[in-house]
Amino acid sequence: MFRRLVSGDVFILQRRLSQSLKCLRLLSCNSVIGSDRGQDLSREERTVPTERVKLDHTNTRIGPADDTFLVPSRPEKQKRVCKVILDRFDQQYGQELGPLWPSARAVLLNPGCWQYGVMLNRFTAVSDVKQRLQGQGFISLLPHTDLPHPPSPTQPHPPSPTQPHPGPPPLPPSLQCFIHPSPVRYPSPPHRQGQLKAYYLLNAASLLPVLALGVQEGDRVLDLCSAPGGKALAILQTADPALLCCNEMDPHRRDWLAKTLESFIPQSLSSTVTVSNQDGRLFGQSEAGMYDKVLLDAPCSNDRSWLFSCGTGGDQEGAVRLRDRARLPTLQTQLLRSALAAVRPGGVVVYSTCTLSRSENQEVVEAVLNTCPGVELQDLEEELALPLQEHFTFTPLGHTPSLGLLVVPQQGRTWGPMFLSRIKRIH
Ligand SMILES: C[S@@+](CC[C@H](N)C(=O)[O-])C[C@H]1O[C@@H](n2cnc3c(N)ncnc32)[C@H](O)[C@@H]1O
Repeated sequence: MFRRLVSGDVFILQRRLSQSLKCLRLLSCNSVIGSDRGQDLSREERTVPTERVKLDHTNTRIGPADDTFLVPSRPEKQKRVCKVILDRFDQQYGQELGPLWPSARAVLLNPGCWQYGVMLNRFTAVSDVKQRLQGQGFISLLPHTDLPHPPSPTQPHPPSPTQPHPGPPPLPPSLQCFIHPSPVRYPSPPHRQGQLKAYYLLNAASLLPVLALGVQEGDRVLDLCSAPGGKALAILQTADPALLCCNEMDPHRRDWLAKTLESFIPQSLSSTVTVSNQDGRLFGQSEAGMYDKVLLDAPCSNDRSWLFSCGTGGDQEGAVRLRDRARLPTLQTQLLRSALAAVRPGGVVVYSTCTLSRSENQEVVEAVLNTCPGVELQDLEEELALPLQEHFTFTPLGHTPSLGLLVVPQQGRTWGPMFLSRIKRIH
């Protein structure tokens, strides 16, 4: 049971699930729970038929099915692309990304080539899963060092005059994520009564905002827009915070978040990991300066799923979505201001989205930097982009001012879209 301990509305996670949660359970049988971002991976999981086959490392079928690989099959009838949304993306991203857009477009339109990361759950025995993954050609995403804990971005260690430059902080060794060069899918973790799930499937780019947050032992952390909970789980893989408050305004998504936490996190953390239901825009007032770190994984356009999300309403539904999209930067800016007010002086906020859209990414960060006194943008290039450029395609590095990192999906490195930016509150 995860219980919110701070003031405001209290949300109690109950083991007895409500009627609405039963629906979520049904979805979870289709792999929604245990996957990242309801809006992208899991939607695809719900709609793209799968078949069991055995593959070699080049993604060639080599034998009959066993239960170790589950890959998206090539659907006989392609999932319908929402033309009005694709047209808008072509127009906007063609301009904003230039030559990177045609290759990103090809990836986004082809779910069959999407890769999936497997994040191990350190609260379970993972050696079997790890061995199986490695035996099947999965590799570790993070170049781990032997150092126990990275220095915090809130406590910079100035280089000593007698020592060489210390370089970027090491990545947290307890966070283990495995990826495969081919778009093979590891099966969703099975539900076993009374047992925690051993791993979580996700878009590996989702780990970048969590790494940028750099949570340390004893930190008070707020995950302002938390459902379905993938990044909250990742935070708990990196360190033992004193508090992780997972906030989600939408009641159905909050149920989903609670279920995710229940499936992956031991009961012993129930007073550390809490769930709340405020409008994130109000946190800056209600809990001003209360947190060391705040993650704002903001509601956004979600390019990956929007391309296929016209539904029965067809292009008209897409047009409504695009009209609503125009309101997102205002909401995102309000949420980011609130996040910066909720963090203590010296603390950091990480802002992230899963869209390529400049107006929801760089322009939101720029607007807040220009209007919030006492905050400063932090560089993530040396710390994250350089060590991980083997796995992710970041938009051309070295652009100044960069305002953040943008991961653009490319063939063979289909992670993203993901934008992230880190802002420190100085006073
Ligand atoms: C991109 S999703 C978060 C994904 C999540 N961080 C994860 O990794 O699983 C954004 C979430 O923000 C929620 N949201 C939208 N507006 C909000 C608000 N004003 N306050 C709090 N949450 C909000 C949405 O319901 C949605 O679940």
